Amino acid sequence: MKLVLAPMDGLTDPLMRDILTQIGCLDGGQGYDWCVSEFIRVTSTLHGKQVVYRYCPEALTDWKTKAGTPVHPQFLGSDPICLAENAARAAELGAPAIDLNFGCPAKTVNKHRGGAVLLDEPELIHSIVSTVRRSVPAHIPVSAKIRLGYADASVALDVAQAVESAGAAWLTVHARTKTQGYKPPAYWELIKPLSEALRIPVIANGEVWTVEEANFALERSGCTDLMLGRGAVTRPDLVRRLRGGSEMSFDELRPWFEYFLSNETENPKGQLGRFKQWFGLLGRGYEEALVEWGTVKSLTL
Ligand SMILES: Cc1cc2nc3c(=O)[nH]c(=O)nc-3n(C[C@H](O)[C@H](O)[C@H](O)COP(=O)(O)O)c2cc1C
Repeated sequence: MKLVLAPMDGLTDPLMRDILTQIGCLDGGQGYDWCVSEFIRVTSTLHGKQVVYRYCPEALTDWKTKAGTPVHPQFLGSDPICLAENAARAAELGAPAIDLNFGCPAKTVNKHRGGAVLLDEPELIHSIVSTVRRSVPAHIPVSAKIRLGYADASVALDVAQAVESAGAAWLTVHARTKTQGYKPPAYWELIKPLSEALRIPVIANGEVWTVEEANFALERSGCTDLMLGRGAVTRPDLVRRLRGGSEMSFDELRPWFEYFLSNETENPKGQLGRFKQWFGLLGRGYEEALVEWGTVKSLTL
């Protein structure tokens, strides 16, 4: 089973990737197979190297987090050539794989023809994936991440086949449409026709917070691999429990709070805000975080 840490803009940033991949590898655990970066938006320019390094500072350490987990940059846009040029630059900088985002539901992004809005245009998705595929060396996999559709799931198979026939190495499917946003449930069973029809691996994603839900998601989607999103942040031990390891108590997490807050940053206020965001999310996984939330919320610099 492959386990992938989801790209989450403003949440699984480099520091969070560092922490979650280290926790996954504690006590010799296998941890995540790879992480996907927050999306790098491509409109009409070829980003400079610094942009790639800003989103993926791991590029400076062989595209691996401190725990040794590979990081794949993710690009979002609708211009095949421009995306291909940016992907080629990331490949020159050593990226181990390139992921393409066709799932973002954000209004501003969709208005500029990026993310989930492209799910209604399987030919364009095919053109993007194949152009990017041709722009990077053959040994570097190109992958895509989709939702089931924009307004409904009727296009899901067309989109998935477009991605496969364009040469993608695997496909990740967030089991909801754009219109369904992040509202439970996730429709894992609607991934099944895709995982059955495609020859490339299909990775199931969406609404996996517990080991039980992970097992349901695998069974209903017919997939063998999972991408973990918010559940990975609310229960940093989820990855290790999915690999048969033990639970992590809230007290065992505390040193990681100090690690988070002592991270060197040019923006200490922003970092404290991010810490509060994480702590707030931990309330869904740990009672103690709920109890201590008031104290953490009032922390100032
Ligand atoms: C705050 C936030 C930011 C996200 N940013 C991205 C992103 O940059 N790229 C992407 O492909 N998906 C993004 N997603 C979607 C997640 O990768 C994932 O598909 C979604 O959260 C469903 O999985 P989950 O229910 O396990 O969280 C984001 C989700 C959240 C909650």
